[in-house]
Amino acid sequence: MQKIHIVSNRLPFSIKEDGENITLEASVGGLATGMKSIYKDYGGTWIGWPGIDSDTISNDKMEAIDNLFIEEKCASVHLNSEEIHLFYEGFSNRTIWPLFHYFTQFADFNQEDWETYKAVNQKFADAAIETMDDGDAVWVHDYQLLLVPEMIKSKKPNVTIGFFLHIPFPSYEVFRMLPWRKEIIKGMLGADLIGFHTYDYERHFFSCVRRLFGYEISFNQIHIEERIIIADSFPMGIDYEKFLKSAQEVGMKSITEKSELHKELDKYFLSSPDRKLILSIDRLDYTKGIPNRLKAFARFLEKYPEFRQKVTLIMLAVPSRGQVDHYQQLKKEVDELVGQINGAYGSINYTPIWYFYRSLPFNNLIELYSSCDVALITPVRDGMNLVAKEYVASRINNTGALILSEMAGVAKEMGEALLINPVDDEEMADCIHQALTMPVDEQKSRMSFMKERIQRYDVFKWANEFIKSLKKAESIQTDFLAK
Ligand code: ADP
Ligand code: F6P
Repeated sequence: MQKIHIVSNRLPFSIKEDGENITLEASVGGLATGMKSIYKDYGGTWIGWPGIDSDTISNDKMEAIDNLFIEEKCASVHLNSEEIHLFYEGFSNRTIWPLFHYFTQFADFNQEDWETYKAVNQKFADAAIETMDDGDAVWVHDYQLLLVPEMIKSKKPNVTIGFFLHIPFPSYEVFRMLPWRKEIIKGMLGADLIGFHTYDYERHFFSCVRRLFGYEISFNQIHIEERIIIADSFPMGIDYEKFLKSAQEVGMKSITEKSELHKELDKYFLSSPDRKLILSIDRLDYTKGIPNRLKAFARFLEKYPEFRQKVTLIMLAVPSRGQVDHYQQLKKEVDELVGQINGAYGSINYTPIWYFYRSLPFNNLIELYSSCDVALITPVRDGMNLVAKEYVASRINNTGALILSEMAGVAKEMGEALLINPVDDEEMADCIHQALTMPVDEQKSRMSFMKERIQRYDVFKWANEFIKSLKKAESIQTDFLAK
């Protein structure tokens, strides 16, 4: 295996346009933030979409964009308005995303979206094939590109292909609803190694392969005529040292060096010694359980009135997939709920929820992670959830409490968090109370166990384990063919 190329829908950077000026800004989302720390180590190119509609830019600008990405060892696959509409907003985010997150009532099954999904997957596969030299391997990522492994394999049977799914793989009863279920599984089976965040997703996948195709499966290996395919779980980690070091730096800053946000946070705590902050950070996505979280926070203020005036929820939501109707409805619902709760419990000098609908620079994220007493992470369904790990890594003195949904993949690794059912307002309200009143010794003990675990299994370890297994998959295949 010489170089390893990465293929994903979104690149680690997206284009930011300011008039004629174009720059790159960091993309948000677990895949981009996680892989950004490692992809350059593999010597290959990261192939993906720059996040901009190619119909709206001139050829000169497109060339300038391509050059910016080349400097970052990335290659752009351009998508036009129709492709963005039918492939990205359509099949990826109106069909696969809701279905795989068990929002079956949100899933559209549209033939035109499917046809475009196939065509765009072919476009990504062709771009990868064009980039590869003999002996290179390729690592394909996520639900937008489920057909790419098979598309590459059919043209380049000797290339070793890894595929990692960053979202849940649903149970057969849900997956079978997809009219193109067989094609999707066939697409994934083009890979030599298929990775999932958790064992549950892996076992759902095996069950679908068995029921739809009847293939023989033993010890993580799927046997198909002349090929052996391995599937396994690899829980994704974060760049632990980067978060820890940045949090330590933030802790050492003098007043003049502090950001405006940091000064405001200091002011908040200085105004009264028993004030507390709760943090919530996500893309604005219906899978993240934001309305339930807000209702539970309101229930907490109702049930424990002694905490009014003393506890503020900082809620950061990054705009995401704004052209998809369910995301627009969610935005409206969240805006309304925040308004209602602030109206009901706020006063002239107390705002219960500080709501930011935007992406924040990395430094501000660290300031929030290190300043907030509690992180409230309550997705209704989430493949992994890296925010939970980022919060833990940023707690330099091990204080703080993590309230975490049992429906997030990360819950499997965070047994010491306060685990909740994300639709149970009452339980969540009580957990907020428990977190805010937790003795410091208990906070430290819980936090240090979680920290140790995410330090050991960080994003570098995750990627190394995946690549090690990919090499193993390659040699198993070679031995099998030699027999
Ligand atoms: P998902 O992949 O579904 O978006 P994750 O929790 O796994 O969920 O990853 C989200 C990533 O996006 C994290 O690395 C987090 O730091 C980053 N992020 C989330 N919200 C913001 C924000 N408001 N500003 C900047 N980065 C954010
Ligand atoms: O990590 C899950 C993920 O869905 C990525 O595949 C995706 O890039 C990211 O979250 C953010 O979504 P989007 O690319 O649609 O902005």
